[in-house]
Amino acid sequence: MKLISGNSNQQLSELVSSYLDVPLTECRIQRFSDNEIFVEIMENVRGKDTFFVQSTSYPANDHLMELLIAIDALKRGSANRITAVMPYFGYARQDRKTGGRTPISAKLVANLITAAGADRVLTLELHAGQIQGFFDIPVDNLSAAPVFVPYIEKKFKDADICVVSPDVGGVVRARQLAKRIGADLAIIDKRREKAGVSEVMNVIGEVKDKVCILVDDIVDSGGTLCNAAIALESQGAKEVHAYVVHGVLSGAAVERVSKSTLKTLVITDSIAATEEMKAAPNIEQVSIAPLIGEAARRISEERSISELFR
Ligand code: R5P
Repeated sequence: MKLISGNSNQQLSELVSSYLDVPLTECRIQRFSDNEIFVEIMENVRGKDTFFVQSTSYPANDHLMELLIAIDALKRGSANRITAVMPYFGYARQDRKTGGRTPISAKLVANLITAAGADRVLTLELHAGQIQGFFDIPVDNLSAAPVFVPYIEKKFKDADICVVSPDVGGVVRARQLAKRIGADLAIIDKRREKAGVSEVMNVIGEVKDKVCILVDDIVDSGGTLCNAAIALESQGAKEVHAYVVHGVLSGAAVERVSKSTLKTLVITDSIAATEEMKAAPNIEQVSIAPLIGEAARRISEERSISELFR
């Protein structure tokens, strides 16, 4: 087994490496003066089971290109199997045509990864499970529940909890978590009654005097979560916390979350935290390294991954 890290999240790769007790294979990623990327794997990979760890997070296009070129380098180095380990799969939100003459970029990215020579993909909480079908190679789409559940159970041991989906699209994810921790479920239904009139947030479910836990796959601008927190509080929620898998947190999102009424926002390290995120008073990060490491080990040993989620 060979574990190799791209530039997107070196710290996560190091944590996975220590979990597995497998050293990171040296890999040089360089730029030509015109910014072309060059990748050189510094150890023999002939016949090896290789795992290249790279989230296609900001700057998404550079990290994607690094991943594709690294896969090509591994293929030409005669690796026996190449697994693209993508803790965060960028472009996933572009999973359908949103209008005439628009792309399905998630499918294009899946094609690129396959064409580059990946044999399989290991990822975490895809924006939509169906994206697995964009690939004609095996995709292991891990759930972050085994990471969040013990954390939630410990922190809110005696609280009256309600798990909340911040939009209708996230209901399945929220329901699964609510079931695992034995909590109630509520849903926020966003609606614009008339064009030009601001969005109305209807809370479906009873949240009065409850500790509300918003769950989502991505926090990007933070708008969805911060507005959901306001809606829940207006319905009498005692306090609002959020557990979100991928902390994209672009633009002024960290400031927005810091100034919001959210008591805590817990994200995973699928995307490397910036200094601003680390300094935010209400943002915490939990590591998915043991989960990714264990899944990689099971792939390598041809053992079940679904057992991890029972
Ligand atoms: C949407 O379908 C996703 O699940 C997230 O709710 C969304 O990407 C969050 O975006 P933002 O933080 O910009 O509101």
